Amino acid sequence: MRLNATNLHAGYGGVPALHGISMEIQSGEIVALVGRNGVGKTTLVKTLMGLLPVTDGELLLDDQPITNWAPSKRVRAGLRATFQEKGLFQELTVGENLRLNGFEPNAQDAVLEQFPKSLSGRQSQRAGTLSGGEQKMLAAACALKTDASLIIMDEPTEGLQPSNVEVLGDHIDNARSAGRGVLLIEQHIALANRLADRFIVVEKGRVVEASPADDPTIQTRIKKRLAI
Ligand SMILES: Nc1ncnc2c1ncn2[C@@H]1O[C@H](COP(=O)(O)OP(=O)(O)OP(=O)(O)O)[C@@H](O)[C@H]1O
Ligand SMILES: [Mg+2]
Repeated sequence: MRLNATNLHAGYGGVPALHGISMEIQSGEIVALVGRNGVGKTTLVKTLMGLLPVTDGELLLDDQPITNWAPSKRVRAGLRATFQEKGLFQELTVGENLRLNGFEPNAQDAVLEQFPKSLSGRQSQRAGTLSGGEQKMLAAACALKTDASLIIMDEPTEGLQPSNVEVLGDHIDNARSAGRGVLLIEQHIALANRLADRFIVVEKGRVVEASPADDPTIQTRIKKRLAI
């Protein structure tokens, strides 16, 4: 499956935030998208998922126009996203959150044992009472353990302890091995370097760099763009 964005524009109440983004992601690859705070990364996620209308440009899924599709239709077609904040229904239990993502009770242990093991057996705990890191891991599990073809992850490692960054990295890597595509929006450059097949750098709502990860100059360009 392949998702293409061409000259994508979107914004909030007439104030533009994306100024013509063109990019693509396909099955079997991990694309790391990086950029400083406020450049439009989360806005892009919302636009790709249909939560924010496209004001100009086009979105294609396997060459089919989906620019005006409802989010639910995109999810049914195989697109999935994890959000930077509040990825779970806070008032529902861990088990109920998993059920809403399609995991029946008898399939839940298999997910919880891996994301990470400390979540095992905690189906009846209210999701809002999990720690911030546990909530991030569970929200990532909900996306990565479904059969979605393309998964967009908005800063999934923000606030995670280093060992969980590694665990999550392994799961993202496994998703690619299973033939899924992942658009990984990530500030944790070490993880992006470990996983990415390609890099995209966004500045002020535009793509300013796009290169394969083995391009010898990409690391220097990313550091310069991010001022790190
Ligand atoms: N709901 C909103 N209403 C109005 N403006 C918004 C809204 N959400 C985001 N913006 C603006 O759109 C621009 C892009 O924000 P966005 O959240 O996409 O950035 P980001 O790259 O995800 O940043 P971060 O790294 O901090 O997560 C910012 O100028 C922001 O203030
Ligand atoms: Mg963001």
